[in-house]
Amino acid sequence: LVLSEFKNNKHFYIESYGCAMNFSDSEIVASILAKQGYGLTTNIFDADLVLLNTCSIREKAEQTVRMRLTNINQIKKQKPGMLVGVLVCMAERLKSKLLEEEKLVDIVVGPDAYRSLPELLEEAEGGQKGVNVLLSREETYADISPVRLDNNGITAFISIMRGCDNMCSFCVVPFTRGRERSRNPETIVQEAHDLFSRGYREVTLLGQNVDSYKWKGEENQTNKEAAVLMNFAQLLEAVAQVNPLLRVRFSTSHPKDIGDDVLHTIAKYHNICNYIHLPVQSGNSACLERMNRTYDREWYLNRIDAIRRIIPGCGISSDVIAGFCGETEEEHLDTISMMQYAKYDMSYMYYYSERPGTMAAKKYADDVPLETKKRRLAEIVEVQYQLSLQNNLDDIGKTFEVLVEKTSKKNEEEWCGRNQQNKVIIFPKGNHKVGDYVNVYIESANKATLKGRVVGN
Ligand code: SAM
Ligand code: SF4
Ligand code: F3S
Repeated sequence: LVLSEFKNNKHFYIESYGCAMNFSDSEIVASILAKQGYGLTTNIFDADLVLLNTCSIREKAEQTVRMRLTNINQIKKQKPGMLVGVLVCMAERLKSKLLEEEKLVDIVVGPDAYRSLPELLEEAEGGQKGVNVLLSREETYADISPVRLDNNGITAFISIMRGCDNMCSFCVVPFTRGRERSRNPETIVQEAHDLFSRGYREVTLLGQNVDSYKWKGEENQTNKEAAVLMNFAQLLEAVAQVNPLLRVRFSTSHPKDIGDDVLHTIAKYHNICNYIHLPVQSGNSACLERMNRTYDREWYLNRIDAIRRIIPGCGISSDVIAGFCGETEEEHLDTISMMQYAKYDMSYMYYYSERPGTMAAKKYADDVPLETKKRRLAEIVEVQYQLSLQNNLDDIGKTFEVLVEKTSKKNEEEWCGRNQQNKVIIFPKGNHKVGDYVNVYIESANKATLKGRVVGN
């Protein structure tokens, strides 16, 4: 969908916080609003409607949004009639609290209620508050064609499922995004086809736990007994077959569910990128048990070994939490040794932030002192720094296939792209253009980027 296809009477402005799922959801919201005559503006002062697509994953994430809301309310005072809405995770966690106690917003919309936006806007325009935070077991927005907001025209997200059934004890997502449900694979493949025909060259299949994707047919989706007609490995294969020039990525994999079938499918198709984001959270079995991750250290080590065996040269990255409830110094050291074993290319690293209502908040004391959490996190960050640097230095002298994405931020004369392993690679532009695949010989590296020159094209 292209926004200019719609008549725009009014304008909306949207900011997205949190994970890729939120950014992808903003594109669904943009599509629904476009049909209501709302055009996109990137200038908040031009907006009739300001939407914040919010995240609750850590306390800090919520604080950031609250500060932004206070700030937006100052703008609103100068622009009477401007409506402010909060979408998704904070909407779900705080519900009408945001409307009543804090009076900062006019509409509050949960992740399964975007279709009701037109009515909610009408209510808000009439001076009432518009709230819909009902969660659904079926909604996947399968029929909605997203408006691409992050418009480089080359890479796009495709949401393949929603919600999460895992109940990791630290995590608020099952509460904010509801039950896991998979999207009709035909609509996923169709979306990939459409993107390819419009010039896109990379899609990332999104879900909180992509390996548990299962399609049982429209009627049987919520029937536990019904046979699975398509699993994640089969879906990956179907999307890979759209075109050999369309790169396929996916996120996030769950260590308990990523099977060898998925690994063999990645190995079989050149255009499925050799890169897996496999969050470990902790390297210690007792801590993993308290986290309710449902795998232990041995299991995770086995998955790393399987990746290395089946997909040689595969990039691996992770999420790590420092200072979870009851974490001892030995448990922390197990996380560090796990990182060194897995040789992650990159990790998202956080210290534990207790979330009200989660199993951990109910069951365990948040007993690791903040100082200790911060010190452990700093140690984890340092280990990852060394691993990223060493992995990148090891790439010097290798040649990688790179998809050209954009001009390098630092130098107009250079392109920026990524290899299959998701590493950023910078090289002189030559005659190449955005969307091309080129082979780049790596000549130098730091912890964040590889630099090289095009060979043999
Ligand atoms: N579904 C993915 C998974 O299972 O790995 C991603 C979940 S979440 C959107 C992204 C990351 O935030 C998690 O992997 C975890 O490391 C981190 N996280 C979640 N809850 C947290 C909390 N209460 N405190 C600190 N970090 C947290
Ligand atoms: Fe949260 Fe765990 Fe679900 Fe990931 S798998 S979203 S960490 S509950
Ligand atoms: Fe945050 Fe919600 Fe994603 S809590 S990380 S935006 S699913």
